[in-house]
Amino acid sequence: MNSAEANLALRRAFSLFPTGVVAMCGHNGNEPVGMAVNSFSTVSLEPPLVSVCIARQSSTWPKLNALPRIGLSILGADQEPLSRQLSSRNGDRFRDVALESGEETARFIPGATLWLDCTIADRLSGGDHEIILFEIRNTTLFPDIRPLVFHQSQYLGLSRAS
Ligand SMILES: Cc1cc2nc3c(=O)[nH]c(=O)nc-3n(C[C@H](O)[C@H](O)[C@H](O)COP(=O)(O)O)c2cc1C
Repeated sequence: MNSAEANLALRRAFSLFPTGVVAMCGHNGNEPVGMAVNSFSTVSLEPPLVSVCIARQSSTWPKLNALPRIGLSILGADQEPLSRQLSSRNGDRFRDVALESGEETARFIPGATLWLDCTIADRLSGGDHEIILFEIRNTTLFPDIRPLVFHQSQYLGLSRAS
């Protein structure tokens, strides 16, 4: 197996782990900046920490990294088109998106199931990704909104296991 094949095999393996989809958004003074991520994980209660892994070649992360506050929105089940838009390599990621303002530069997606208003607490090395530890400053819950699920590169919703 060459390295490209090994990379693809690992992507397939990782895709068997179901995740939510998170919109990571902010405003740099001129325009909104953001991207969709599914590497979100909860980390700690005290202090309140979550993590996200960012590919080292991301062109959007350096813009978010410069902001004092970043908004994390856990997308709702009907927001597949938005996830696609927020991960597109060309095109306006914020077309027709009415962002909600948080503290300072944080921006949120209406229709999400959870908003986390965050500051960056630490940056750790994670191979070809950087592990970003976010400290949560504010939470806004929308428990009646069901989450979007990403599994095997497909967008799904939740259903009861039994
Ligand atoms: C469902 C989904 C999950 C994604 N998760 C991540 C992720 O966890 N980390 C990451 O760096 N990119 C992730 N991406 C890719 C980014 O959204 C984006 O396409 C990529 O960073 C390239 O854009 P950029 O150069 O503007 O950063 C994901 C894309 C999709 C559609």
